[in-house]
Amino acid sequence: MAIVCARKIANVGLIYVFCRPKSSLDRLILLLSIMGKNILITGGAGFIGSHVVRLMVTKYPGYQIFNLDALTYAGNLENLKDIENAPNYHFVKADILDAAALKNIFEQHHITDVIHLAAESHVDRSIVSPLDFVYTNVIGTVNLLNTAKDFWKQDLSYENAHDGTWDGKRDHLFYHISTDEVYGSLGKEGLFTETTSYDPNSPYSASKAASDHFVRAYGETYHLPIVVSNCSNNYGPNHFPEKLIPLFIHNIINKKALPVYGDGLYTRDWLYVIDHARAIDLIFHEGKKGDTYNIGGFNEWTNIDLVKLLCTQMDEKLGRAKGESESLITYVKDRPGHDRRYAIDATKLNKELGWSPSVTFEQGLAATIDWYLQNTAWLENVTSGAYQTYYNQMYTNR
Ligand SMILES: NC(=O)c1ccc[n+]([C@@H]2O[C@H](COP(=O)([O-])OP(=O)(O)OC[C@H]3O[C@@H](n4cnc5c(N)ncnc54)[C@H](O)[C@@H]3O)[C@@H](O)[C@H]2O)c1
Repeated sequence: MAIVCARKIANVGLIYVFCRPKSSLDRLILLLSIMGKNILITGGAGFIGSHVVRLMVTKYPGYQIFNLDALTYAGNLENLKDIENAPNYHFVKADILDAAALKNIFEQHHITDVIHLAAESHVDRSIVSPLDFVYTNVIGTVNLLNTAKDFWKQDLSYENAHDGTWDGKRDHLFYHISTDEVYGSLGKEGLFTETTSYDPNSPYSASKAASDHFVRAYGETYHLPIVVSNCSNNYGPNHFPEKLIPLFIHNIINKKALPVYGDGLYTRDWLYVIDHARAIDLIFHEGKKGDTYNIGGFNEWTNIDLVKLLCTQMDEKLGRAKGESESLITYVKDRPGHDRRYAIDATKLNKELGWSPSVTFEQGLAATIDWYLQNTAWLENVTSGAYQTYYNQMYTNR
C-alpha cells in the first residue's frame, strides 16, 4: 500500500511537470484522475445519463467510470456504442432496488463517488403507476445512500459536515440529479431559485422531491458529502420518443398526428442535454458540498410555439411544403395535475461556477432533428415492441 501511494505521488509530480495545469480546476482534475476516482454513474444507459457517461469517459481517461443501469424500457446501451470499448468504461447491469448488488459493486470496484441519475422519469407513466416511481426514485435512492454511507463511513467526519469545510475533504461525493418539477408550477411571472419551496404536483415530481429530501437528510444526519442539482426540461440526441420533442420528430417523419395537451400554452424552460452534462461535470468538480444548484437555459417556450418551430425546421429539412407538418397538430385532453409553467433561475450556477449554455434553442433543436434523421435505425428499434402498446394506451385511445 505504501509503495502504491509513493508511486502515485511520484507520478503526480512527473505528470504535473509535463502537463503544467493552468487553472486551479485543471490542477484539481489532474490530481483526482491520478489519485484514482472510481465513479458510479447510475442510469447511464438512459437519455441524460448516456451523455454524462460519454463526457466523463472521454474527458477524464484517468477516472474509471462504472455505468450502473437496470436497462428498463428507457435504458438503451446503443446510446453508448461509440465508447463501449474505452478502457475506463465499465457497464454493470443492476437495479438500485437491490441493496446486496449495490454493496457488491461498491466493494468490488472501490467506488469513490456517485452521480445518481437512475429514475423513472416520465410524468404520464407516474400517473398510471405511481408505486413504480416510489420504488425506484425514493427507495432506490435511499438504498444507494445507505450503500455509500456504509462504504465510506470511515471517511465521513462530523467536523467536515458542519464547519463549512466540505471542500477540504474531497474524498467522496454523492451527486444527486434532480428536476425543476419539484418546485411545482409558476404563474405568469417569476423563476424557480434554489430557495423556492418544494411543491410537487405529479407522482413523478413528488417522488423526485422525496429523493432530494433524503439526499439532503443524509448530508445532515450522516455527514455524507452530497450535492443536488435541479434542471429544467432537457432535449437532444438519444431521447426516448415518449417525450415531447423526440415523439413529435418521429411523428412528423411518419406524418402522424401531433397530440398537444390542453390549450398548448403550457410553458417549459428547455436545455440542450449536452449543456446539462457540462453543468453536471462542473458541479461534480467544483460544486460546494451540501449545496443545491439550479440548471436551466433561460429559454421558455409554450408547447404550441415549440411544436410550430419544430414543424418549420422539419419541413425545411425534409423538403416539405411550408405548413405541411403544422397541419398534423391535434389538441388532446389535458394531463391531470398538469403544471402550467416552469422556469429556472440559473444565476447561481453562472455566477459561482461560470456555467452558461453553449447553444441557442434554435441551434440545439436543429442539431437534435439532424441526429434523429441520421439515426433512423435507433428510432425504429426504440419505437417497436412494448413501446407501441404504451403509446396506444397514452395517445391513440384518448
Ligand atoms: N429528462 C429531463 O428533461 C430531466 C430534467 C431534469 C432532471 N432529470 C432527471 O435526470 C435523470 C435522468 O433522466 P432521463 O431523462 O435521462 O431518464 P431516462 O428515463 O431516459 O433514463 C433513466 C435510466 O435509469 C435506468 N433505471 C430506471 N430504473 C432503474 C433502477 N431501478 N435501477 C437502475 N437503473 C434504473 C433506466 O434503465 C434508464 O437507463 C432522472 O433522475 C430525472 O429525474 C431529467
